[in-house]
Amino acid sequence: MKSADGAKTSSWYTGIDVPTYRPLVKSTKADVCVVGAGIAGLTTAYLLAAEGLSVVVLDEGPIGSGQTGRTSAHLASAIDDRFFEIERLHGKERSRLAHESHAAAIDTIERICNEEKISCDFTRLDGFLSPGPSDPPDLLDRELAAARRAGVADVEKQKTGGLAGGPCLRFGRQARFHPLRYLVGLADAFTKRGGRIHTGQRVRDVQGADPKKEKRAVAQLEGGVRVTAEHIVVATNTPSPINDWFGIYTKQASYRSYVIGAAVPRGSVADALFWDNADPYHYVRLQPLREKEKDLLLVGGEDHKTGQFPEDGAPFTRLAAWTREKFPMMGRIRFRWSGQVQEPADGLAFVGRALTARENVYVATGDSGMGLTHGTIAGLLITDLIAGRKNPWEKLYDPSRKIMNKEFVSENANALAQYKDLLTGGEVKSVKDIPPDCGAVMRDGLKKLAVYRDPAGKIHRHSAICTHLQCVVQWNPAEKSWDCPCHGSRFDPTGKVVMGPAVDDLPSA
Ligand code: FES
Repeated sequence: MKSADGAKTSSWYTGIDVPTYRPLVKSTKADVCVVGAGIAGLTTAYLLAAEGLSVVVLDEGPIGSGQTGRTSAHLASAIDDRFFEIERLHGKERSRLAHESHAAAIDTIERICNEEKISCDFTRLDGFLSPGPSDPPDLLDRELAAARRAGVADVEKQKTGGLAGGPCLRFGRQARFHPLRYLVGLADAFTKRGGRIHTGQRVRDVQGADPKKEKRAVAQLEGGVRVTAEHIVVATNTPSPINDWFGIYTKQASYRSYVIGAAVPRGSVADALFWDNADPYHYVRLQPLREKEKDLLLVGGEDHKTGQFPEDGAPFTRLAAWTREKFPMMGRIRFRWSGQVQEPADGLAFVGRALTARENVYVATGDSGMGLTHGTIAGLLITDLIAGRKNPWEKLYDPSRKIMNKEFVSENANALAQYKDLLTGGEVKSVKDIPPDCGAVMRDGLKKLAVYRDPAGKIHRHSAICTHLQCVVQWNPAEKSWDCPCHGSRFDPTGKVVMGPAVDDLPSA
C-alpha cells in the first residue's frame, strides 16, 4: 500500500501491512462519526470508544494515507514556532498551556503503546535546537528563558552540539516512533472495542445537528449513504468538506516539506531529534532498521508554499547536498517524499467546536509541523468536549479565535497574488512540449488547462481552475500532482482531488 497523497512513498510503508476496511454500503447510526483516519481521527475514535461510545470512522483512503504516513514523526513538546513567539502572540499562560498539551500528547502516545502493546519503536530521547546562520546571537537565550517561563523543566543550553555544532538547546523527554505501526495498533485497539472503520468513499458533506428540529448531525458520503450521529468530528488535516466554516483556510497557509532517508552505520549519528532555525529549516532523526548495524537517517526541510514549486525545481537535490555535508557517512538515498504542513496564523492548531457549522460538529486542523502531537491533543480535547468535561486547552485551540498576528496578513497577501495567474500565459505553448509523466498549464483561448501526458503518451486535459475558489493550479514535478497555490488543495495527474479544502475534482476539458 502507498499513500494517496503523492507519487513518492515514505519509508513508513516498507515492511508493514496496513489493514484495509470495506466501504459503507448501507446508511448507519452511531454516537460519534469521525471523518479522517489519521492520527487525529483515530486517537479521537479510540478514546471515545474507550468511554463506551459507538464510533464510526470514515476515510476516502486507507488509514494513515494522508499526512500521518508522510511525517518524519518527531514527537516534540519543544514548540517548533519557538516558545518566545507563542508567548508574544498568546501570552505567558497560554504558552505554558501549549507546552503542557504537547507534553501530555507524548505521554498519551506512550501510555497507549504500553496499554495496547503496540510495537512501534516508541523511544524517549533528547531534542537539540541549533540557531540558523542569520539568527541574532541571543536567539537561544531568549528561547531558553521563554521555555522555562512555559514550564519546561528539562531544558538547558549546551556550548556545543546540535546540527550547527556550536551552542544549542537540549530539550529532554522528547520522543520518536513509527507512525504507521502506531496507527495500525490504534485502529486494531479501536475495532476490538467495537469501533467501525470504513474506507474507500469520499465524505461529500457534513451537516450539524439542529436541536430545534430534533435533527442529529449527518455525514453524507459518495454513493448516497450517510452516517447519522450525535457528534461529528472532521479530522482531515485540511478542513474539507467543511471549507467555509469560519473561513479557516484564511487562517492557515499550506506548505510542502521534503524528507529523504538514507542508511547510516549504527552509532555514527546520535539517537536524538535535531532541529535548526535556518530558513528554510532542517529536522533530523534516526529510525532503527531491521538490517544489521544500520539505522535510517531521516532528514527533512526545504519547505515551500504549496503550489509554488521552486523555480530551480530542486528541493530534494538541496536536501541531499546539505545532508551529505553534515553526514558524510550516509549511504545512497533510499527514500524521498514530501508532506503537507498546515501552518496556522498564530502557531497553534485549530481544534474544537466548529460553531458556524451548527451544533455538535468538531474540527481538527492547523498542525503547524507538529501534526502527531497536535493530532493527539485533538483526541484528548474533543473527547472531553463530547463527554461534557472541562478541558484547560479549549480556549487555546478554539477554531473561532481571532488571529492577532499581523505578519500573517502578508502571508495571505501572497495567496491573493496567485490569482494573477488567471491572466498570464501558460507554462508551455503546445502539448508537444510536455514530456511523458509530466504536466503543464496551457492557455487555450480564455481558458487555462492542466494538461498531463501519462507514461504511455496519452494526454489528459482538465480545467486548471481549482474547484475551491478558482486559483490556477500548478504542476508539482516531485509528487506528480496539481497543487493550488492559494489554500493548498491538491489533485492527482488526472484531476482527482487528493487534498482539500477543494471537494470536487478538476473537470475534464
Ligand atoms: Fe482555495 Fe484552490 S485551494 S482556491
